[in-house]
Amino acid sequence: MATHLVFLTICIFIDLSSQCSITGYPFENHLSSETPYRLVSNKSFYRIQYDGCTPKKIWMVIRHGTRNPSISKIEQINNRLPDIRDFILENDNLPNGFIKNRDLDLFQKWEPTLNAESKKKLTREGREEMLLLAERMQSKFPELFDNIYSNTSFKFKYTHTQRTKKSALYFVTGLFGKNNAKSVWFPEPLKNDPILRFYKSCTKWYKEVKDDPKLKRINKAFEQSAEMLKTLKVINERLNFSRVSSNLSADDVFLMYKTCAYETAWNKQSKSPWCSPFTEEELKVLEYAEDLELYWQDGYGHELTYKQACPAFSDMINMLISNETYPKVTAYFTHSGTILKMLAHLGLYKDSENLTATNYGKMANRKWRTSFIDSFGSNLAFISFKCNKNNKILTLHQEKVVRLPSCPNSDLCDIKEVISYYSESIEHCDLTSMCAI
Ligand SMILES: *[C@@H]1O[C@H](CO)[C@@H](O)[C@H](O)[C@H]1NC(C)=O
Ligand SMILES: *[C@@H]1O[C@H](CO)[C@@H](O)[C@H](O)[C@H]1NC(C)=O
Ligand SMILES: *[C@@H]1O[C@H](CO)[C@@H](O)[C@H](O)[C@H]1NC(C)=O
Ligand SMILES: *[C@@H]1O[C@H](CO)[C@@H](O)[C@H](O)[C@H]1NC(C)=O
Ligand SMILES: *[C@@H]1O[C@H](CO)[C@@H](O)[C@H](O)[C@H]1NC(C)=O
Ligand SMILES: *[C@@H]1O[C@H](CO)[C@@H](O)[C@H](O)[C@H]1NC(C)=O
Repeated sequence: MATHLVFLTICIFIDLSSQCSITGYPFENHLSSETPYRLVSNKSFYRIQYDGCTPKKIWMVIRHGTRNPSISKIEQINNRLPDIRDFILENDNLPNGFIKNRDLDLFQKWEPTLNAESKKKLTREGREEMLLLAERMQSKFPELFDNIYSNTSFKFKYTHTQRTKKSALYFVTGLFGKNNAKSVWFPEPLKNDPILRFYKSCTKWYKEVKDDPKLKRINKAFEQSAEMLKTLKVINERLNFSRVSSNLSADDVFLMYKTCAYETAWNKQSKSPWCSPFTEEELKVLEYAEDLELYWQDGYGHELTYKQACPAFSDMINMLISNETYPKVTAYFTHSGTILKMLAHLGLYKDSENLTATNYGKMANRKWRTSFIDSFGSNLAFISFKCNKNNKILTLHQEKVVRLPSCPNSDLCDIKEVISYYSESIEHCDLTSMCAI
């Protein structure tokens, strides 16, 4: 206990944003797709080098940085959380072992801060995530990321949204500085970009996966699971809400969890009061609810979901094998839905069993953890290297080396091996027929 406290104290003085999370605040490891990038990234500025190899090009997809919630979430926050806050403050049984005086002070000061206009906008934290990501990538690969902009050397693209546009702007600011960033050329964003958001025009995927009532039924089934019912009971007891008039529903508890996640992402320095009712045990259950949903919506649950990522995969291969020297850098600013489908397309973070509403316990050590693989600012990068006569590919996810299933025993994978392993994707990528109903 004593060493734990010392560690925490040192952490708070040295660096609020990095390793401390592991020991200090268990909730920071279970925030699912609202996890800020600072909690999962590799913050190294060291150059990435392999003996006898020279980096030639890089192709990357980047989820926009930390943003505000959707309009419906903002409305729920504004309509429901002030009441819950008041119930907590009026409750004579608090503070208790979980809700401390410090938390009550934070609740006392808490007000909703967002309106309809701020929906999904990139936040201060999101801007910083992109600046720092760009700076680190530049120092990891100085041969690729010149610090002087050239329209031939760099290809940037973002989707038709404020959050990806701003993410791109802050990323190029990180590379070239504030003034030079102004001269960077971006193509006009497309509503349904066939590479950055391939799924947007996939009618069959919407019909059979995204809009299929089955997806909601899986979520509902997990809400009825023993783990979720226990979570609700525990939170209601802890807050002494078991009184009929004010007890919390599953929706309330999810809303509190999401607000805990957003406020943690937005503010490095202060703890969100909405995290205080939870211990790691409940957070793991709430995290699983989101992992489950995204597994069936954007992951391994349905073949079509990840099969349709082939245009993005082919774009990457074509860029890396092309004989053209330029562009050296391709960077696409996009969304969680693209990153997750790409990960599943590659066969990364694949568990041997499906996530289901009934196997929470069994999947405790699953690879499919959106808190790690789908944070804000998540990114996937492929770097081609020339090693003597051979062309190889290095893959980074969250700036960490990951090994593709085509080369489980080495970081660098021969491009020929990649092409042969994923030949089905490269040779049969006809979205028109894949997505027709
Ligand atoms: C940059 O290149 C694109 C073609 O890739 C071209 O359409 C655009 O006009 C160029 N922009 C500038 C500022 O040179
Ligand atoms: C909850 O509140 C009631 C009074 O409203 C009190 O009698 C009871 O002891 C409290 N329970 C806990 C667990 O704090
Ligand atoms: C909350 O109260 C309602 C009745 O008003 C009850 O049906 C429900 O089971 C309660 N939920 C919890 C989590 O205690
Ligand atoms: C690249 O050049 C080599 C030799 O000049 C040629 O054999 C190869 O087909 C070219 N590759 C592409 C993708 O154009
Ligand atoms: C996972 O679910 C899919 C779709 O229902 C099914 O086709 C597949 O066989 C399942 N995989 C396993 C390992 O159970
Ligand atoms: C982070 O990057 C550095 C340098 O590239 C590397 O040595 C280290 O192992 C990486 N850490 C993780 C967790 O991937």
